Amino acid sequence: MTKIFVSRRIPAAGIDILERAGVEVRVGQEREDEGVAPAVMRDGIAWCDVLLSLLTEPVDRALLALNPNLRGVANYAVGFNNIDVTSATALGLPVSNTPDVLTDTSADLTWALLLGAARRIPEAHNYMRDGHYKLWGPNLLLGADVSPGGNGKRKVLGVIGFGRIGTAVAKRAMGFDMDVIAYDPHARAQIDASGIAKWSELDNLLATSDFVCLHPLLTKETHHLINEAALKRMKPTAILVNVSRGPVVDEAALVRALRERWIAGAALDVFEHEPAMAEGLAECENAVIVPHIASASVGTRDKMATMAAENALAHLRGGRAPNPVNSDVYVSEAYRARVARFQDNKGK
Ligand code: DGY
Repeated sequence: MTKIFVSRRIPAAGIDILERAGVEVRVGQEREDEGVAPAVMRDGIAWCDVLLSLLTEPVDRALLALNPNLRGVANYAVGFNNIDVTSATALGLPVSNTPDVLTDTSADLTWALLLGAARRIPEAHNYMRDGHYKLWGPNLLLGADVSPGGNGKRKVLGVIGFGRIGTAVAKRAMGFDMDVIAYDPHARAQIDASGIAKWSELDNLLATSDFVCLHPLLTKETHHLINEAALKRMKPTAILVNVSRGPVVDEAALVRALRERWIAGAALDVFEHEPAMAEGLAECENAVIVPHIASASVGTRDKMATMAAENALAHLRGGRAPNPVNSDVYVSEAYRARVARFQDNKGK
């Protein structure tokens, strides 16, 4: 019987697909609020034919090298910075992810955060809950306009990272009569052709946007892209929204920026050392913070589970996965050797 190790429990929709395919499934961690012990992870990888991992599990070269018969890694996330893809490719291992399905859900959350920070929704909610509301007043919980609003000026949305989610966020800005500018060194042509955003250099985007939304992949180039200098370039009235990966922002610098009001506010779905937060961040009343829930709708999480399961089954069969992130692996000698090895083992 072929075996799939699922590092932490995923929605039943995904597990059902695997079990219906006659695969033996082992889940490394059943509890939602606990990670997988390193020894369980190592044992699971050594035991299985395919690893189905979550973004909380770092999958490095040492782990991948534990099992010469491993056939691939299916990540239950669109982001795959938890996996050493370069090493996986060198070892002949296909890696896959769950793109597209979570684009709208994540763009919606980006806007929920942006609006929540601009209109101070969490503060207002706590104000009501704590019984402070005694009388309506003209100065109660004043926020910032997103639409032209009172001063009649169109606001500028700056989108950094114009991939699927960045583009979906930009589209939604049309409903708020905003001007959208975007920076993505890998997507200048897409920005120019989009009809919804205009290309901007990074410095100009930071200096002129009323709202800066972050949607790049986490790479060496984007690590701490938003550092002290970048934060100081932003308008004191601007709001920063991060729904990408925590380390894109230097979180200690962000806490200083929020405390000293270099910027007006921030709304964060992700954190540099997740699940921990930089010291002082939780106390910043101008920060809206949520626990990495961008894709957290019932329908989307179910669909991510079925996609990850289908990718895992394709890895198992030695075929091309529906959503590979390292397609070049399929033409490599290392991949051919790996497939030959498991087909050989099957014959024994
Ligand atoms: C992803 O898929 O990369 C998100 O961060 C979680 O859904």
